Amino acid sequence: MTELSSLPEDFVWGVATAAYQIEGAATEGGRGPSIWDTFSHTPGRVANGDTGDVACDHYHRWPEDLGLMKTLGVDAYRFSIAWPRVLPEGRGQVNEKGLAFYDRLTDALLEAGITPFPTLYHWDLPQALQDAGGWPARETAEHFADYAAVVAERLGDRITHWATLNEPLCSAWIGHLEGRMAPGLTDIAAAVPASYHLHLGHGLAVRALRAAIPDAQVGIVNNLTHCEPYSEREADVAAARRADGHTNRWWMDPIHGRGYPQDMIDVYGVDVPERPGDLETISAPLDWLGLNYYFRNVAADDPAGPVPHITQPELPGAHTTHMGWEVYPQGLVRTLRRMTEDYGARRIYVTENGSAYPDTVDADGQVHDPERVRYLEQHLAACARAVEEGVPLAGYFAWSLLDNFEWAYGYDKRFGLVHVDYATQRRTVKDSGRRFAELLAQHRGG
Ligand code: NOJ
Repeated sequence: MTELSSLPEDFVWGVATAAYQIEGAATEGGRGPSIWDTFSHTPGRVANGDTGDVACDHYHRWPEDLGLMKTLGVDAYRFSIAWPRVLPEGRGQVNEKGLAFYDRLTDALLEAGITPFPTLYHWDLPQALQDAGGWPARETAEHFADYAAVVAERLGDRITHWATLNEPLCSAWIGHLEGRMAPGLTDIAAAVPASYHLHLGHGLAVRALRAAIPDAQVGIVNNLTHCEPYSEREADVAAARRADGHTNRWWMDPIHGRGYPQDMIDVYGVDVPERPGDLETISAPLDWLGLNYYFRNVAADDPAGPVPHITQPELPGAHTTHMGWEVYPQGLVRTLRRMTEDYGARRIYVTENGSAYPDTVDADGQVHDPERVRYLEQHLAACARAVEEGVPLAGYFAWSLLDNFEWAYGYDKRFGLVHVDYATQRRTVKDSGRRFAELLAQHRGG
């Protein structure tokens, strides 16, 4: 029995996905190319040469996927809107077919009693904007706000909950510094301005959403985590402080009006391209904070490595998922508390949490995934504990509804509550999906 009674009565139970990871139909419906099309089609960038060309074919099969959500009984669906579907060139000409797709999805969700929680940017920058400079260029932030306005204008009469960015850390640091995600750069001099313009784009988009939708509930989705030193060595303690700056403070301080942490500017050796008034835009008040949590960060000093000179050594005896990520639910409690205590969060959603395991469909036609069931239970229990400790947690979105395109890892890494057989596009609800449905039903039943 998982003890979840401390979760509030109106706790939101949801599932999450992202456009490029599930939609497919990459060249249909007037969609323009994004940096992820380019990246995944570049040999050597994605495991097995996988691309999002077809993915889960959700663009065509969304009614079936909505049916799965109904079967699970969720209250809410977090999905992302593909900028290159709405504006194939990133700016200028609006693609009616792209908007119509999300319009239909929105209506069908509402009809099913499922609250839509769209995210405007889940990493699929239109390639045309990358060619014009990408996130390191200030204009990209302005184009993002224009895109937000177009979407808000079309869907704002029916959707109140909006997220601007998903995990800007990954866009900036993994995409521009580590090179493991699109656009695949390894340059701190590009990564720092990219991070800054992501924030600026966020702030400008908040303004656009509020202008178009009087009752908008706007948030941002950050991947934050609990950081601690690998050993008591002074160098590791300092590394953990840098890890915290790189992962948490850089992403939370500016949106809370605290500017960019000077210790990290010193570490990066690159200043932010700030103009007067920007920090005010960036710190526009939000209605909620989205937290994506997967694992903690145990940091060791790595003087020879790239900035910020941190490595995460393997932890002996740790239980890890198929991603190699340590299962550490206590880190979720600590991160939620930190956001509440240090940043005064007033409403938080866990906008993603989940685990990858190499699931297969058994001879009985079922997918038995006891490790994911356990992961889910442990992290929901962590949510309940956080609530007991005073965290204003309003909901939990499991990552993910479906197995999907796991970025540079391709299709090998399966995070779904529902299994996808990519050869046939057959969906099978896993044991974990059933358990999730059971837990939310129990919670509702009091
Ligand atoms: C966070 C990202 O938002 C999502 O796209 C990804 O699939 C999961 N983490 C798992 O890595």
